[in-house]
Amino acid sequence: MERNVKTIIAQMTVEEKASLCSGLNMWQTKAVERLGIPSIVVTDGPHGLRKQSNPGDMSSKTVPATCFPSGAGLASSWDRELIEAVGNALGEECQAEDVGVLLGPAVNIKRSPLCGRNFEYLSEDPYLSSEMGTHHVLGVQGQGVGTSVKHFAANNQETLRNSINTIVDERTLHEIYPSSFEGPVVKGDAWTVMCAYNQVNGEFCSENSELLTKVLKERWGHGGIVMTDWGAINARVKGLEAGLELEMPYVGPEHDAMIVGAVRSGELDEAVLDAAVERLLTVIFKAADGKKAGFAYDRDTHHALARRAAADSMVLLKNEDALLPLAAEQSVAVIGAFAKTPRYQGGGSSHISPTRMDAAFDFIAAAAAGGAGYAQGYPLKGDAVDEALIEEAVTLAAGKDVAVIFAGLPESFESEGFDREHLDMPASHNELIRRVAAVQPNTVVVLSNGAPVAMPWLGGAKAVLEGYLGGQATGSAAADVLYGQVNPSGKLTETFPVRLEQTPAYLNFPGGKSEVFYGEGLFVGYRYYEAKKEKPLFPFGHGLSYTTFAYESIAVDKAHMKDTETVTVTVTVRNTGERAGKEVVQLYVKPLDSTVVRPLKELKGFRKISLQPGESAQVTFALDKRSFAYFNTEIGDWFAETGAYELLSGPSSAETPLAAAVNVVSTGIPFRKVTRNTKFYELMAIPETAEFAEKAMNDSVEGLKQMGAMFAESMGDSGLVELFEAVVRMKKFDGLRSMSGLMGGGMTEEKLEATIAELNGKLGLG
Ligand code: BGC
Repeated sequence: MERNVKTIIAQMTVEEKASLCSGLNMWQTKAVERLGIPSIVVTDGPHGLRKQSNPGDMSSKTVPATCFPSGAGLASSWDRELIEAVGNALGEECQAEDVGVLLGPAVNIKRSPLCGRNFEYLSEDPYLSSEMGTHHVLGVQGQGVGTSVKHFAANNQETLRNSINTIVDERTLHEIYPSSFEGPVVKGDAWTVMCAYNQVNGEFCSENSELLTKVLKERWGHGGIVMTDWGAINARVKGLEAGLELEMPYVGPEHDAMIVGAVRSGELDEAVLDAAVERLLTVIFKAADGKKAGFAYDRDTHHALARRAAADSMVLLKNEDALLPLAAEQSVAVIGAFAKTPRYQGGGSSHISPTRMDAAFDFIAAAAAGGAGYAQGYPLKGDAVDEALIEEAVTLAAGKDVAVIFAGLPESFESEGFDREHLDMPASHNELIRRVAAVQPNTVVVLSNGAPVAMPWLGGAKAVLEGYLGGQATGSAAADVLYGQVNPSGKLTETFPVRLEQTPAYLNFPGGKSEVFYGEGLFVGYRYYEAKKEKPLFPFGHGLSYTTFAYESIAVDKAHMKDTETVTVTVTVRNTGERAGKEVVQLYVKPLDSTVVRPLKELKGFRKISLQPGESAQVTFALDKRSFAYFNTEIGDWFAETGAYELLSGPSSAETPLAAAVNVVSTGIPFRKVTRNTKFYELMAIPETAEFAEKAMNDSVEGLKQMGAMFAESMGDSGLVELFEAVVRMKKFDGLRSMSGLMGGGMTEEKLEATIAELNGKLGLG
């Protein structure tokens, strides 16, 4: 519907404007009826609808909704189309339930495997997380329903989540943490962003103008609104000024009154309030206009999608002797309480009421012509080993061809609201697997968990299928994969460590009582394991299939590129096995000549492809400046250094058999101004100043060499000449000021200043 938001704002009182800046109750925004401004419903999110039948009544029942796999699972599909299809289905359910904004996706980086909310988050890698988050957003919003990308930003733990001050250096902050939100906001055009509870470098996210205004609104051009996480408001007026539009939920009239008071006293410019209201109205009207009256969705179709999504997200971690897929004629011992009572979703705000539940046992029993028996194996609650249950399971397993054990983490082990303190599964699960594997060589373990676990029994289990929290169809999906109806194609979006002490954030997680220091910096996830040459249990990107793929060739369309151009990389992959299957082709960029500290390589492209036996496909990736860049804190922007980069492709981060190279030529300047401390190498990398810098450096080097020769002679030690030669190789890292004085070229200060001015002129830096 056509309407002029500015004209509406002009008719609003200050009170009415302020009223829109906080909710009506837990799940709704306020209406201003006299001006035709409706109220809209926002609700969790992210992988299913947690909507109360009457959003204004906290005691009303949660309506049934399809429970799709949680974020950790969905992302493991590495399938943009699949997560978009799930997003679309979520959008349909929102339409059917009259919901205007779905509170998700949750795209915080998995900094430590201990974070209680990792089941909801997508990856340890910002590029992957951003891409999958983008397609989640596109799917939901394609239905005319908004999303709220959360929790912005650097909210990577549950311990003290309401107050903790995240201390993170500027480069890491840009390269790892907000980066994960960039795609959903810029490419996905997410209508809303939810700011996190925590502080970042001393400022609460809800009033952090660097994050909410500079990054989100200015750099990324976000046109929607920022809402608080529930109760994340600190100082209301400061928040509004920093770029926070909506406070959720409603806590009473005081905060709106503070805004009115601040406008009246002149403390707050009314234009700031108007700008916020303009954004709020834009989103509110978009949601209202997007409503499809009387919309209904088909529960069976959504359940079938949940089953496909779960099966395509499961990660086959190990499959010795090709134990999987199972043959129908094998007799199976199905063991573990999760086989009948699935662990399928995480605890906390995303916990929903599913429309139905598939238990793995029922589907395995239907597929196993050779017969299936069941033993509970462990108590559903608690950690304690139950000898009788284990004995029963061992006896069952010994008499069958195969044992399939469903195990993992019970809900009490991981949830929103607290972090884990260790990586262990309950002792009852670990002991069960150990004992069953001791009598049954063909033991398969199917895991249900939101985050990595230690696997002390790994040597005894021939096959391990990581099912994550697979949603309401997790049981049928597991059977689909176990029996080969679906060839597994998920890959890990996070590194599985051998032990906790090996993890990147080990020394600084969850931090002290007031702050947490992100001491590992850029080295999150595989970036850390690779730099430290630490061998994890399973690497980032790992996941097996029932077929095999050969990485045949890689080609680039140019050997040199300016950072204003793109390079196209073509990777050829063939299915060399007997079954149709899907492969996630991964592309990593490895800088070879960087002058700044960088991870060894970083994921910059991936594509999931489907291949028939013998079939091959060419996958192309377009890489641009951003694929090669680091965040340069001096210019406050991304910068791709001139130099050589390797392009590596393969089936996981630990296996990249194909390599090509490209030389990037930067057209940018990595500093704001030439100063007396600008370094020779920086100027040598810029065409306009390269010649000058090379000569100036060589002149200085000559001076140094002569000095070296003099010392060598006076001390009668010819070895000094060599030493000086080694020293002058470092000369390029000296600042221009080294051209003055005895140790340099003997340039006067006056000449130095003039030279600097001339260089700035050449570079157009005033
Ligand atoms: C969670 C959010 C959620 C909100 C509303 C908060 O506790 O952190 O993710 O959307 O509650 O339920």
